[in-house]
Amino acid sequence: MKTEYHVLGVAHDAEIFAHAGEIIRCGGLVAFPTETVYGLGGNAYDTDASKKIFAAKGRPSDNPLIVHVTSPDDAEKFAYVNDVYYSIARRFMPGAITVILPKRDCMPDTTTGGLDSVAVRCPSNVYARALIDAAGVPIAAPSANKSGAPSPTTAAHVLADMDGKIDMILDGGACDIGVESTVISLDGTSAVILRPGAVTREMLLEVCDSVTVSDAVTNPALAGDKPQSPGMKYKHYAPIADVVLVDTGRGEFIDFVNSHSDGKVAVICAEEDARLIYAPVKLIYGAVGDEDEYLKHLFYLLRRADEEKADKVWVQLPSTSGKSLALYNRLIRSAACRIIKP
Ligand code: TXA
Ligand code: MG
Repeated sequence: MKTEYHVLGVAHDAEIFAHAGEIIRCGGLVAFPTETVYGLGGNAYDTDASKKIFAAKGRPSDNPLIVHVTSPDDAEKFAYVNDVYYSIARRFMPGAITVILPKRDCMPDTTTGGLDSVAVRCPSNVYARALIDAAGVPIAAPSANKSGAPSPTTAAHVLADMDGKIDMILDGGACDIGVESTVISLDGTSAVILRPGAVTREMLLEVCDSVTVSDAVTNPALAGDKPQSPGMKYKHYAPIADVVLVDTGRGEFIDFVNSHSDGKVAVICAEEDARLIYAPVKLIYGAVGDEDEYLKHLFYLLRRADEEKADKVWVQLPSTSGKSLALYNRLIRSAACRIIKP
């Protein structure tokens, strides 16, 4: 299959979106930017389109897809909504949050991985919204990477993983946030975080009576065979290089990597620390402690490690508070839980 590639924001966006919407309605697949990561979209109501998504990614068919809408109340067509959902929607949608709700029969089992619930997300990215509007149907979209690889934050990453496998790639530039949405399930007025993201536990407490973080978020081994969110049990975000987390403070981390940098070693580090580090490959996330910049660049840096042919990537273990929980969660999974304490 020839994959069409269009750069957005230059000219002819209206025609590009009309064509992309038509592809989705006809059962094809279009990769598109969102504020979090790039998505691989198909008609959520179309069983065959969902099957194509799983095939293009090489994703296990029991790992459900997120359904994207432009307005929170669009979810009523295929899910059973409630007051808590609307409180969350008023505060955080459009934005980087996904809410799991009981599904209606019209939403096919293939899209929800056989579950009787459906994940709803209302993205804020204008191009994502234009595509959903042009398609006229809710769009099922996982991250547009090969299953197991770091999620794509640029259209070039999507092209590297999906060229020849999908109908179209829409290039809307680099994603603002850089990690996927916060996924929550609801139990009455309480929320459970199944995947942390830019909408933090602290922020959710503004609208929910209680917010807990699923144990598997910080310890993937606890996900078991039937986790609350199927994605928890699969290998994820892993570059070819071995990612290893070092559980130390900032100064000790620099000392550690300087005495363990034989071979093709890469280090993820802050701009201020880069000149103190002697590793062959330095992957700079931003200014020290800038969590937003770190989130934005994390997946790009993991892909860079492979481009640099690094065989090991040292990373300081992040904290589990605020937005850093999202970093922690992605990193322990990309490291397959390899954590060392020097
Ligand atoms: O930011 C995002 O959420 C991106 C963009 C494209 O919107 N999408 C994304 O999709 O990250 P994906 O498929 O890579 O991750 C979806 C996660 C998986 O871990 C999946 O198991 C979980 O959400 N999930 C989806 N539906 C679910 C459901 N009904 N119950 C529990 N977990 C669900
Ligand atoms: Mg994904």
